[in-house]
Amino acid sequence: SLVTSTEMFQKAYKGGYAIGAFNINNMEIVQGITEAAAELNSPVILQASQGARKYANSVYLVKLVEAALEIHPDLPVVLHLDHGADFEVCKDCVDNGFTSVMIDASSKPFKENIELTKKVVEYAHAHGVVVEAELGTLAGIEDAVAVKAEDSSYTNPDDVEEFVGETGVDSLAIAIGTSHGAYKFKPGTKPQLRFDILDEVVKRLPGFPIVLHGASSVPQEYVKIINANGGALKDAIGVPEDQLRQAARSAVCKINIDSDLRLGMTAGIRKTFVDDPSIFDPRQYLKVGRQNVHDIVAHKIKDVLGSDGKA
Ligand code: G3H
Ligand code: 13P
Ligand code: ZN
Repeated sequence: SLVTSTEMFQKAYKGGYAIGAFNINNMEIVQGITEAAAELNSPVILQASQGARKYANSVYLVKLVEAALEIHPDLPVVLHLDHGADFEVCKDCVDNGFTSVMIDASSKPFKENIELTKKVVEYAHAHGVVVEAELGTLAGIEDAVAVKAEDSSYTNPDDVEEFVGETGVDSLAIAIGTSHGAYKFKPGTKPQLRFDILDEVVKRLPGFPIVLHGASSVPQEYVKIINANGGALKDAIGVPEDQLRQAARSAVCKINIDSDLRLGMTAGIRKTFVDDPSIFDPRQYLKVGRQNVHDIVAHKIKDVLGSDGKA
């Protein structure tokens, strides 16, 4: 059933696991994710960015999620807006079937972030919808905001109590060294998230659900398949899964994964074309992409997030 993340996060926090938040853009991705979650009896968050809503039309995405719920009526699913840039897009999602929205005013000055987040919280809560906000900026590309690596800044733990207290937000995304996309760390350097910052945040906000964006691990097996079949992804590096496991055991209740699904979909399609250049039926290559999405989500749920059997 379609739910908010409130209970999901409470259980995940206490149980030392995290809920996967996977980005949806088309039918095959919705199917791959929800099949895996249903098989493993795992709660799941399906999130649509503004780019996804523009690509597919938000009506299609909402209806695809409704279809998945009809097929898996017992599966707890949150439909979440990823990186909402303003009040209007959040309102539109609240009014049209989403159970959770993110207002991302993290690139704005602290006080403006508070004001805008507060406004979204007031509207969303009045309609039974929960809100995620962000403090600190991730390097890389966010939907509406491009952030240069040198401008990225970790979350300041001294800000979090005031921010959560003033806004009434339900969960908080923090910046501890992750970034969006497939190129998260310089080649040759050791990828390391700032768990010391996370610990400081948790001291200030005991029991409060924390969100990790940019949490793809960029599985090298899929990068290799892409590059072996005409792709050119040089030095693609993600967050080591051990660090994601450590995050999942902590106050991090929501872990965002998009790039890994993109890699899986692309690897499946590229390999199918190269293996059999005579193929031109979209079902033949999309189903391979969909299977990879399924396999990646199943692996995350079982081996990284620990949310299997928690539905
Ligand atoms: O925030 C980044 C997510 O991967 C969504 O990306 O805005 O290109 O859909 P997108
Ligand atoms: P990745 O690019 O690491 O998959 O991050 C996705 C994300 O944070 C969506 O909001
Ligand atoms: Zn994100």
